[in-house]
Amino acid sequence: MKATQGAAPDIAANTRDRLAAASAVAVLTGAGISAESGIPTFRGAGGLWKNFRAVDLATPEAFAADPQLVWSWYDWRRGLIASAEPNDGHRALAEMQNRFPRFTLATQNVDGLHSRAGSVDALKLHGDIWTLRCTACGHERQDLRTPLPELPPRCSCGALERPGVVWFGEALPTDVWEQAQQAAREADVFLVIGTSAVVYPAAGLVELAKTSGATVVEINVEATPVSHVVDVSWRAPAAQALPRLLA
Ligand code: OAD
Repeated sequence: MKATQGAAPDIAANTRDRLAAASAVAVLTGAGISAESGIPTFRGAGGLWKNFRAVDLATPEAFAADPQLVWSWYDWRRGLIASAEPNDGHRALAEMQNRFPRFTLATQNVDGLHSRAGSVDALKLHGDIWTLRCTACGHERQDLRTPLPELPPRCSCGALERPGVVWFGEALPTDVWEQAQQAAREADVFLVIGTSAVVYPAAGLVELAKTSGATVVEINVEATPVSHVVDVSWRAPAAQALPRLLA
C-alpha cells in the first residue's frame, strides 16, 4: 500500500476507519508527543542534542567519567518535566486503551507523562527518569523530588545511584522489549507518533509491525526515515491529531 497523504480531515477519517476495524492496536511514541507539554525534544529545532552532546551525558562512559555533570543534566530535565502537564495527545492515548481489546503503548520517553495522563502499563523502552538505580547493589527506588537534595545521589548501601534510564550503548530491558516486539507483530494498526525513528532498536518496531501485516500510521510534524515505510503519513502535531481519532 502506498503512503497516504492528504487533507487532515481525510486522513483523520481514514485512520479512524482503520482503527474501527482493528482488534489489536500498538503505539510507539517519542519525544514529539511531549513537545506540546513544553518538554524539549532531542533532535530538530530547539532539540537537546543541538546544545548538548549525547556522548557527554547519556552514555555509561560519560557517567563513569563525571557522575556530577551527568546528574546535573538529568536533575535539570527532571525539573522541566515536573513543571509540565500531560497534553491532549497523552490523554487521547490513555482513552484509547479502553477502546480496544488489545492495546499496547510503548514509549521511548522517560518523562512519565503517559502514566500521568492515565495510561496503564506503558512499556518504557528507555526507562524512567524518576527511577534511581544503585550502581553497586542494583536497588531501585522512585524519587520525585526536584531538585534532588544531593547530587550525585547515593543508595542506602553507600554506592552511587544512576538515573534509571537506558543510555546509548546499553540494552533495553529484556521483558519490556519482548512485549513491545510481540505487540508490533500482532498489531492490526500500529501508530508511530512523535519520533524521529533513528534510534534503534526502538525504531525497528515500525518495520516489524509493517512486515507483520499492520497498517502503520505515522503522526509527526516532519518527515522521518520511516515515512516511506508507513501506510499513512499524517503531518500534524500529536496533541491536535490524536483527539481526532476518538471522535
Ligand atoms: P527526537 O527528538 O529524535 O524526535 C522527535 C520527533 O518528534 C521529531 O521527528 C519531530 O519532528 C517530532 N515532533 C516534534 N514536535 C511534535 C509534535 N508536536 N507532534 C508530533 N511530532 C512532533 O525524539 P525521539 O525520537 O523520541 O534516547 O528520540 C529517540 C531517543 O533518542 C530518545 O528516547 C533518547 C534520544 O537520544 C536516549 O536517551 C537513549
